[in-house]
Amino acid sequence: MEYAIEMLNITKEFPGIVANDDVTIQVKKGTIHALLGENGAGKSTLMSILFGMYQPNKGKIKVKGEEVVINDPNVATRLGIGMVHQHFKLVDIFTVTENIVLGREDKTKFGTIKLKDAAKKIKALGEQYGLTVDPDAKIQDITVGMQQRVEILKMLYRDADILIFDEPTAVLTPQEIDELIEIMHNLKNEGKTIILITHKLKEIKKAADVCTVLRKGKVVDTVNVADVDEHEMAKLMVGRDVEFEVDKKDIEPGDVVLEVKDLCVKNNRGLPAVKNLSFNIRKGEILGIAGIDGNGQSELIYGITGLSKIDSGTVMLNGRDITKLSIRKHYEAGLSHVPEDRHKHGLILDFKLKENYIVHSYDKAPFSNHGILNMNEIDKYAERLTEEFDVRSGQGIETIARSMSGGNQQKAIIAREIDRSTDLLIVVQPTRGLDVGAIEYIHNRIIEERNKGKAILLVSFELDEILSLSDRIAVMFSGEITGFKNAKESNEHEIGILMAGGHTEDHA
Ligand SMILES: Nc1ncnc2c1ncn2[C@@H]1O[C@H](COP(=O)(O)OP(=O)(O)OP(=O)(O)O)[C@@H](O)[C@H]1O
Ligand SMILES: [Mg+2]
Repeated sequence: MEYAIEMLNITKEFPGIVANDDVTIQVKKGTIHALLGENGAGKSTLMSILFGMYQPNKGKIKVKGEEVVINDPNVATRLGIGMVHQHFKLVDIFTVTENIVLGREDKTKFGTIKLKDAAKKIKALGEQYGLTVDPDAKIQDITVGMQQRVEILKMLYRDADILIFDEPTAVLTPQEIDELIEIMHNLKNEGKTIILITHKLKEIKKAADVCTVLRKGKVVDTVNVADVDEHEMAKLMVGRDVEFEVDKKDIEPGDVVLEVKDLCVKNNRGLPAVKNLSFNIRKGEILGIAGIDGNGQSELIYGITGLSKIDSGTVMLNGRDITKLSIRKHYEAGLSHVPEDRHKHGLILDFKLKENYIVHSYDKAPFSNHGILNMNEIDKYAERLTEEFDVRSGQGIETIARSMSGGNQQKAIIAREIDRSTDLLIVVQPTRGLDVGAIEYIHNRIIEERNKGKAILLVSFELDEILSLSDRIAVMFSGEITGFKNAKESNEHEIGILMAGGHTEDHA
């Protein structure tokens, strides 16, 4: 059997860490090969080497049996390698077609771009692989799932036959994930080779043929997916048994902490996104907001946290009207927030890890005294959080956030926000991009905070997560809450109906 890709004895060092330590993977042509490993295990680094963004310190790469040196992404493209990055690289104000041809424009003899021919080729590719997109839509007007299709078409337009996907499903809804897996199967059936990075074991079971497991930069094993179950994969990856279920005892909720009344918020295009929403959350209670992406969840959170202006309505925190406070005053009023977009609202990427931990509190005791930073206290605090939440990186608390792996950036934000002793904790997609071991820990921590008496607002597209963590569930559809359910008495089916805009009998 012919190998499409062989990465042989690859070693890549960064300051303080060996990200890839003598890694060998061989990917057979026409297969879907998964890469699994804990946050920081070295998956993205390995694929960045294959795509020519980093040079390995040691090792060699063969593409279709030929040894090659891939010293830049253009070389990778010429060798037929394409990559969909976790953060898409599309131009918002350009159309789908313009984005796909960008950098590859065929010109007519008059110097104008042959967009008509391009559109024809895109349409044909779309039909061949089941990748429907509207070629004339602007990127800013289409869903994340559609944007991803544009990224895939962009690779195919460049005739790539080795396709790398780095956590493609982290940003997708369950429906979109099923569609993507089908698209990947179509690609495979047409002879393409796929390397897939994902933390979701179910997806590996559904999509992949072979799985290579990395731990701390080294290959632990390469297995046939058909021969292992999800528990075995989890164990290979973290080196111990992982509990998928969370343990949650009943507690009686206390006083109302958050009261949202008749809230109306518009989206960034000026259209109503949150329509007259009202709900409360009490001490010791987790309210889960379920719903398909784009039904007003983001705008609801922006409205509550002050990230965007609200149209009308009130937000009360511990009986105090916080509706019109600045963002900073919102935080000071007693609110913590793990944001949906960790790069835009969660971290200052050019700051060190330890600086990111104290962005809300650097001017307060014990971190600051009469305007002078107490570095000792800051370091002590940062060391504690890093240890408690197992945030891994090359240079510990001195690491620049940008160089940390995606999952470890997420863990750092969660650590900071959970550790602040506020009455209200808002967590949006808290476990996006985390490995199963980290998810187990974070879920337990969220329950622990609830048991300590915090009011928690959880937004997640993952129904499993909503059902296992929430006390009450509110389902959002088209800017409204279509139903409140008691989590213990509800199930995936019932919530699914509400998420699609249907109705069921309310009992909570
Ligand atoms: N440009 C860089 N500079 C310094 N260190 C880096 C750089 N890129 C990655 N690292 C380090 O290399 C290690 C591996 O990171 P990598 O991003 O490959 O992990 P990963 O397996 O993709 O994790 P995740 O599941 O969290 O995305 C991490 O410890 C990270 O901090
Ligand atoms: Mg990664």
